[in-house]
Amino acid sequence: MKIGILTGGGDCPGLNAVIRGVVKTASIKYKWEVIGIESGFEGLILEGHTRDLTPWRVRGILPIGGTILWSSNRGDPFNYPVEENGSIVKKDLSARAMEKFKKLGLDALIVVGGDGTMTIANKFYKMGMSVVGVPKTIDNDLMATDLTFGFSTAVQTATEALDKLHTTAASHKRVIVVELMGRYAGWIALYSGIAGGADCILIPEIHFDIEKVCKHINDRVKHGACFSIIVVSEGAKPIGGDVTLLRADKNDGVERLGGIGEKVGKWIEEMVDIDVRVTVLGHIQRGGSPNSFDRILSTRFGSEAVELIKHEKFGRMVCLKGQEIESVALDDAIARQKVVAPNSSLVKVAEAIGICMGR
Ligand code: F6P
Repeated sequence: MKIGILTGGGDCPGLNAVIRGVVKTASIKYKWEVIGIESGFEGLILEGHTRDLTPWRVRGILPIGGTILWSSNRGDPFNYPVEENGSIVKKDLSARAMEKFKKLGLDALIVVGGDGTMTIANKFYKMGMSVVGVPKTIDNDLMATDLTFGFSTAVQTATEALDKLHTTAASHKRVIVVELMGRYAGWIALYSGIAGGADCILIPEIHFDIEKVCKHINDRVKHGACFSIIVVSEGAKPIGGDVTLLRADKNDGVERLGGIGEKVGKWIEEMVDIDVRVTVLGHIQRGGSPNSFDRILSTRFGSEAVELIKHEKFGRMVCLKGQEIESVALDDAIARQKVVAPNSSLVKVAEAIGICMGR
């Protein structure tokens, strides 16, 4: 048997641990060959872009962030940008990718990625490719799995940032607004906001009332707390307002979120008599070494993806259900986004301990 593996979409901590889990299980347990496809699906379109992966070649990558196979979120073979007569047109090059898969002699392909990557993987599965998926994203917004790997490390990174911002905010009696990632789901903001002792947490799922946020800050001042930490998820929006974008969708289905932190900072400055500063944590949340939880989850996902191939369960994605690794059909994996329920127990706990959720 010869299997391939690629990492698609944005990177996140734990990708290398998945690659290692796949390579070790495939070669140590089953004596299969593993080929790494570089730069996501783009590696199935371009010449070269492959390398043999052996246990020796994945040695030492477990604690390393990013992906040794590189990633690309612009290489959709079904909608691939090609230059024609001086302008860029989108073409369906999926047949070329299928051809390369066959030419490489691959029996199956493990695709590690988020919803966009799984959508492409599902299309290839329907064309006859033996595909298995592994869910990745710091945003934790895939309904089919209780957790994605990378989320826990991102939360830890954001929590450490909040701890640091606390000391400077308290020293200068300031409000510090911290914008965190997460796209249209508030998981990173909610988890790290609670873990990092935030005073307000604004998430996309609860449209916020800025007056309530400012009242909360003023009440804290009245009670002697002259600083506040306001966590804002990049997809958060005020009541009646829209999501704030750095870049609109350029016909590729991708909006770049960002900028709501600055807006919230300005609104607070206008309404509250305290110095305000804004920090955007950005891609720091995606980088660095995966924590032990993510290393274990990634290793389990990688190893179980190989087991799915062994048992010919193609067109499926590994997932975490409770404490167990299971699998779901790719069709179901991409069907629904997982967002925070506004009245979920964790939101209620946040409010019970006095965190303002902007409502
Ligand atoms: O999906 C992961 C994520 O980090 C989001 O939280 C964020 O909105 C987006 O990717 C940023 O994407 P890019 O790396 O393309 O700027």
